[in-house]
Amino acid sequence: MDKKVIYSAVQPSGNLTIGNYLGAIRNWVKLQNEYDCFYAIANMHAITVKQEPAELRRRTLELAALYIACGIDPEKSALYVQSHVPQHAELCWVLNSVAYVGEMSRMTQFKDKSQKHAENINMGLMDYPVLMAADILLYQAQCVPVGADQKQHVEIARDLAIRFNNRYGETFTVPEPLILKGGAKICSLQEPTKKMSKSDENPNASIFLTDDRDTVIRKFKRAVTDSGSEIVASDEKPGVTNLLNIYCAFKNCTLQEAEREFEGKGYGEFKLAVGETVADALSPIQEEQAKLLADKNYLGEILKSGADRAYRAARRTLSKVYRKIGFYQGE
Ligand code: TRP
Repeated sequence: MDKKVIYSAVQPSGNLTIGNYLGAIRNWVKLQNEYDCFYAIANMHAITVKQEPAELRRRTLELAALYIACGIDPEKSALYVQSHVPQHAELCWVLNSVAYVGEMSRMTQFKDKSQKHAENINMGLMDYPVLMAADILLYQAQCVPVGADQKQHVEIARDLAIRFNNRYGETFTVPEPLILKGGAKICSLQEPTKKMSKSDENPNASIFLTDDRDTVIRKFKRAVTDSGSEIVASDEKPGVTNLLNIYCAFKNCTLQEAEREFEGKGYGEFKLAVGETVADALSPIQEEQAKLLADKNYLGEILKSGADRAYRAARRTLSKVYRKIGFYQGE
């Protein structure tokens, strides 16, 4: 039997945080053996907000190197750049005629980004979920591993797939979001009731995958903790709980185990231990990423072969779609 298909992507905008790593990329690595995986660098999504062209180009390669450094194996998974496979834009156009303006204007992320970028509410921003649906449906993906914030987008992809299938006959696999557990929500180090974000204004709020050891340790030292001195996870202690969650995610241990380990210890010692654990986990990834970025030809080859593989799968679906909707494709 064919393996199930997994699709996911990250935008090459901004620096990734440990939240992105724990919530997305680290889980993708585990899925590679059991599934047929397509992992993309969503540069077409990225331009829906203003990007500096040179920076977008640089970040695309950095993200490719990071994927591999985190353990995505380009022999197993198709690792590619979205714009290298023209079918994404082509299917998006078809799906645009199935998607309603009303439903797109109600999407949470569209509303948030419209507020944040009020001077640039462009068509692409509103079309973002349709392009994302095209990404997923092109590969007939069953599962889409994403963070909870992307669940609504996967649901729209489901709706569009079902609507298209009803209108034109069975064409698309209806995808399911795969919200992976274990990755507790990673929150800001400065406002621990808010999600850690790559676009936080306060650089001390987020740990970026590119932060060096001293920076990581310094940010953890400055992390907001709670009143009292006990190191336990509870709703009354969002700061301590967040640090414990981060510690457990990197140590692969349970909250109870971590609480026991830090029993009777002070906040200072605790924060240093969390900082060192995270720095220890990031440094091999950073070294590997730097090594990969030093060989642009090799990276280019990998992205080309990933795009070839994606292209073949995408072409099959698009041709089926064109047939169903009545686009003449020759005799
Ligand atoms: N919107 C996703 C994010 O910002 C990135 C993305 C683009 C994606 N296309 C996708 C995720 C397809 C899953 C599937 O995180």
